[in-house]
Amino acid sequence: MNNNRKDDHIMFAKAVDVCENDFDYIRFVHHSIPSISLKDVDLSTTFLGHKFKYPFYINAMTGGNKKGNDINIKLAALALHFGLPFFVGSQSLAFENKEAKVSFEKLRINFPDLFIVANINPNFTPEMAVAAVKMLRANALAIHVNSVHELVMEEGDRDFTKWEANIRNILKAVKVPVLIKEVGYGMSEPTLLLLKDIGVKYIDVSGKGGTDFSLIELQRQDKTTSSLLDFGISTIESLLLARNYPNFEVLASGGINSAGSIVKSLALGAKAAGMAKYFLDLCDFPLQTMIKKVDELIIDLQKIFVLLNVKRVSELSIDHLIFDL
Ligand SMILES: Cc1cc2nc3c(=O)[nH]c(=O)nc-3n(C[C@H](O)[C@H](O)[C@H](O)COP(=O)(O)O)c2cc1C
Repeated sequence: MNNNRKDDHIMFAKAVDVCENDFDYIRFVHHSIPSISLKDVDLSTTFLGHKFKYPFYINAMTGGNKKGNDINIKLAALALHFGLPFFVGSQSLAFENKEAKVSFEKLRINFPDLFIVANINPNFTPEMAVAAVKMLRANALAIHVNSVHELVMEEGDRDFTKWEANIRNILKAVKVPVLIKEVGYGMSEPTLLLLKDIGVKYIDVSGKGGTDFSLIELQRQDKTTSSLLDFGISTIESLLLARNYPNFEVLASGGINSAGSIVKSLALGAKAAGMAKYFLDLCDFPLQTMIKKVDELIIDLQKIFVLLNVKRVSELSIDHLIFDL
């Protein structure tokens, strides 16, 4: 993998502001006379076989080169402070260069107690997948299925004929929970059907509405238009589709950047909400400021829970939402 490509992604992702998305078309059914106290709100949730204090996580972005490592170290410190799961970005570089591998290994050495999710693409063999988990002593593994992004990239994959078989084989070989994640294009009904058939348990629908890799690639290639611009299924649409598959443990991401969008995702059935761009932007600040901002996010979550008159994540439901779609 091209070392600079990951840095380009960071640069262009930061340059774009998240604009209006489907979350803006959903309102809360609040209670004007709630019966609970803010201090009794319990935000904990269980996913990927682990109980977490808060229902959000730092989604996959980077690692393996200087800039990526600096970002990962900062994000890992933030994740540890709050007990959040930390998803590293693609580990492909670690299979091409020794330094990149060492940097991932060091992340685990420096953060022995962090819940780390390893990250690979579906071209990986089962042996490589096992090695990716081992390098981080990862608690879980995410396989990103980014077919749209690959086709948008000039240097991207064009042959997807082995992806399904690879995922099936990786699931058999890896001992930690394996999550299949999109990268901002969402999951359709046929995708969900296939994942169910394969026996996948954990998914991150990562829908349209936030970071848009089609736009990022357009800017990287200095082009003005692409047929795959504005492509994909929104996070809300994906979550609604995933409700028909109760056996999945569903995570939500794509355009989630506030307490409101986190709670809306949870009310639609997600166990937790992932944020990439939100945390990338926080990295512009010193760690103390990042902590302060996440503290504020947590208080906002508690306030929304009070207004919905719920004490815990499991009490949230679609009935707490009004759709203006
Ligand atoms: C700079 C950047 C790099 C990313 N790299 C990866 C990656 O290596 N692996 C992956 O699974 N997802 C990657 N993603 C996708 C995110 O994990 C997430 O699915 C997507 O950005 C949507 O979330 P957002 O709207 O909160 O950014 C990346 C996102 C960003 C912003």
